[in-house]
Amino acid sequence: MTQTLSNSLEEHWMPFTANRHFKANPRLIVGAEGMYYTTHTGAKVLDGSAGLFCVAAGHGRREIAEAVQRTLTELDYAPPFQYGHPASFELARRIAALTPGDLNHVFYANSGSEAVETALKIAFAYHRARGEGQRLRLVGRERAYHGVNFGGLTVAGMVNNKKAFGLGLPGAVHLRHTQLPEHKYVVGQPDTGAELADDLQRFVDLHGADSIAAVIVEPIAGSTGVLVPPKGYLNRLREICDAHHILLIFDEVICGFGRTGKNFGADSFGVVPDMITMAKALTNGVVPMGAVAVSDRIYETITGAAPESAIELFHGYTYSGCPVATAAGLATRDIFDAENLVERAAQMSPKFLEGLFDLKDLPVITDIRGYGMIGGIDLAPKDAPGVRGLAVMQQFYDAGLMVKMTGDCVLVSPPLVCEDKHLDEMFTKLRDVLKSQ
Ligand SMILES: Cc1ncc(COP(=O)(O)O)c(C=O)c1O
Repeated sequence: MTQTLSNSLEEHWMPFTANRHFKANPRLIVGAEGMYYTTHTGAKVLDGSAGLFCVAAGHGRREIAEAVQRTLTELDYAPPFQYGHPASFELARRIAALTPGDLNHVFYANSGSEAVETALKIAFAYHRARGEGQRLRLVGRERAYHGVNFGGLTVAGMVNNKKAFGLGLPGAVHLRHTQLPEHKYVVGQPDTGAELADDLQRFVDLHGADSIAAVIVEPIAGSTGVLVPPKGYLNRLREICDAHHILLIFDEVICGFGRTGKNFGADSFGVVPDMITMAKALTNGVVPMGAVAVSDRIYETITGAAPESAIELFHGYTYSGCPVATAAGLATRDIFDAENLVERAAQMSPKFLEGLFDLKDLPVITDIRGYGMIGGIDLAPKDAPGVRGLAVMQQFYDAGLMVKMTGDCVLVSPPLVCEDKHLDEMFTKLRDVLKSQ
């Protein structure tokens, strides 16, 4: 299908987009099926990033479309405050069965950003409920991405995302990021760097544990370029949190649902946090939905502190667990189960990582990192940071490959349904474009 662009593109102010560049070089997608997009010029483009890390089960899944369609005619909307509908409870049970440890309670939001805000607010509410309402300090990490709302920005660590938007919540502090110079081209988890987690102990020593509510980290820092945690790093964070009653939140908006080769990064790295935020692949990207899985202890503390029949947590969204998103979530779970997508990710990972690290000889590449089914490729900047990244992204697209760029870093995370031939095509296209840089 070829569509001509006769209408203005000016009115839509696009998110995280070089608007003027885009409007001069429109990259419009008009269809998607399986591993491929169709562009407005009729070209086929391989999806090398599962959209924005969300389309794990591939595009155009009829099962999801049909579930959503059925729901739209059966139950278009049900208010989530003081009322419910059965499917949101069913999806919560399914999620709780997947999450590690006693993370048995699920609070719904509409995006990863909202899941993060929710988790941070629950952390404050938890400490208040146990009589330590003075714990209002949040700990984030350099190079972290936790969405774009004010709580998430506060704990985030990517400078361009933060600098135009004020100072965030007071008192937040940031761990150092985990990418050490000796980690260059390390496949999987680096052996060194676990001691970087001791930054948390330093914050405890400096500010007092009784000022700190929670620490939030992505198990693998995704958007910043795929920083894989050093061996033992997350365990060490867990130990320090336990010693000082600080909550540990894993932001698994990218890592969750098989990207690391297990259900969650928590499973891959063997550390159970107090909360897990999730979104993206929860509905295969089809309908916006985010969620936070919360431990029994947090849920029981907050609910137990409120008078009987009172609202326990004054938080929620008009569309929390809305029927359509829930239907998409359940249908996505069914696909994951029927097609063993998490195991499939684990099986595909060696080939994915081999193809990724095989690019190492290209002179424009300065580092490669990867784990499970996600990889980051750093390119040497040209002129100014991000200039090469944008140009390369356009060249990939023209060559029939979509990837996510962060500045001059190429992020690859194909749908988990990809086959060998798709990985071959992806790495061939990556090589062809990058060798000409
Ligand atoms: C770790 C992490 N947290 C939060 C978000 C924000 O999610 P959303 O864009 O759905 O708000 C993202 C998005 O990429 C993410 O990677």
